[in-house]
Amino acid sequence: MQYFPGLLNTKTGASILDLVMAGTETIATTLQWAILLMMKYPEIQKKVQEEIGRTVKSGSWATYEDRKNMPFTNAVLHEVQRFITLLPHVPRCTAVDTHFRGYFLPKGIIVIPSLTSVLLDKTQWETPHQFNPNHFLDAEGNFVKREAFLPFSTGRRNCIGESLAKMELFVFFVGLLQTFTFQPQPGVSESDLDLTVPQTTFTLRPQPQATCAVLRE
Ligand code: HEM
Repeated sequence: MQYFPGLLNTKTGASILDLVMAGTETIATTLQWAILLMMKYPEIQKKVQEEIGRTVKSGSWATYEDRKNMPFTNAVLHEVQRFITLLPHVPRCTAVDTHFRGYFLPKGIIVIPSLTSVLLDKTQWETPHQFNPNHFLDAEGNFVKREAFLPFSTGRRNCIGESLAKMELFVFFVGLLQTFTFQPQPGVSESDLDLTVPQTTFTLRPQPQATCAVLRE
């Protein structure tokens, strides 16, 4: 399969899309969601900060290797990615005539897979529509991989930036929570924070909402 041909008809256009949208917008938007969810669930934010305090030496920054000793933080980040279904519909088109499960898809037809169908699948997740880091933790608090965790899609043309994205998300998220506590602005309560998605663009962005980044001791 290829990208929707109308989107990428020049090499320059393709490079801009890759750098600005695929490479930057995805990470920035996921971190916006992560901050919003930490404001909404302060008890989860506190547990992440406690784990950071136990694992990352004071005065230094986390490395990606540290995730192995930070199951709760790792689970929270995975759950952020699952819950937000950032990029549910990347359009592709068939490169050749294709027969798939009884359907005939002629060459060049647009195919739009739905990652939401797996990331929010009620047969795969205990509470699909609820932000619940326990989806990625066992009873002893160890991190568990889940087969249905597919925010980067699957198959031959899945996200080429997956490893980089996971590393960036972990290092930035831990650095942010090491330095700041995120709170709603005065007069706004956690229940006022809105987790609905305003418009479907390339990525599913959160509603614009203010945050107070309070410097930690
Ligand atoms: C939270 C971060 C990210 C998510 C959730 C994400 C998700 C995805 C998804 C769902 C696809 C479509 C795969 C398919 O059609 O099967 C994709 C494709 C792609 N992603 Fe990402 N991505 C992320 C970050 C990145 C980063 C950091 C880069 C590069 C630095 C990147 C580069 C690409 C490229 C080049 C493609 C197209 C691959 C191809 O056509 O073969 N992505 N991504």
